[in-house]
Amino acid sequence: MNRRERLALLEERYRSCEHCKLSRTRTQVVFGEGNPEAELMFIGEGPGKQEDLTGRPFVGRSGELLTKIIEKGMGVERAAVYIANIVKCRPTVDLQFQKDRPPDAEEVAACSPVLLRQIEIIAPRVIMTLGGPATKFLLDTTTGITALRGKWAEFKSIPVMPTYHPSYVLRNGGDHSPLKKDVWHDIKLVMQKLGWPVPGKDERSP
Ligand code: URA
Repeated sequence: MNRRERLALLEERYRSCEHCKLSRTRTQVVFGEGNPEAELMFIGEGPGKQEDLTGRPFVGRSGELLTKIIEKGMGVERAAVYIANIVKCRPTVDLQFQKDRPPDAEEVAACSPVLLRQIEIIAPRVIMTLGGPATKFLLDTTTGITALRGKWAEFKSIPVMPTYHPSYVLRNGGDHSPLKKDVWHDIKLVMQKLGWPVPGKDERSP
């Protein structure tokens, strides 16, 4: 079986998952999407409203920014990378389906085997974690994202570059956010590691 088939089988197995309480309020499982042979994998936190409705990761506002970072910044198609989350169903405050929240420990424990299997199947050359929860989970640390971003770490011998979550960048000034410079710095380190051509100073910054 090739990687695409193995991912499809995994997705099928969890389509009606009821391993945690998020299954009771989700519209659909958001498995992840992209190139099964991707050299680069992005890992976010969990689906938001648009993701829950469409079944696709990072398609809301923060998804727009991530897509811009990938396509305008890195100069590759979004479909060339793989995008997933730690949890596959939308966590909302009090499960009232209004305000989003980070997944709790129980939800991460129930769902993370799916992500770990995705990483195993795709075997990316580099992983980029987006924000605190994804970084803490993958690196098994309690250190905050501000201290970790921009520095190489490792998960099972795969180089990991933590950076800010796009929604954090949006909440802190969006297009004019000073955090964008940091994210661009981190992205360039990833491109260098992958041997992808890195544009000159500020030439292609998203
Ligand atoms: N935030 C995430 O962490 N993941 C998504 O898929 C969307 C928003």
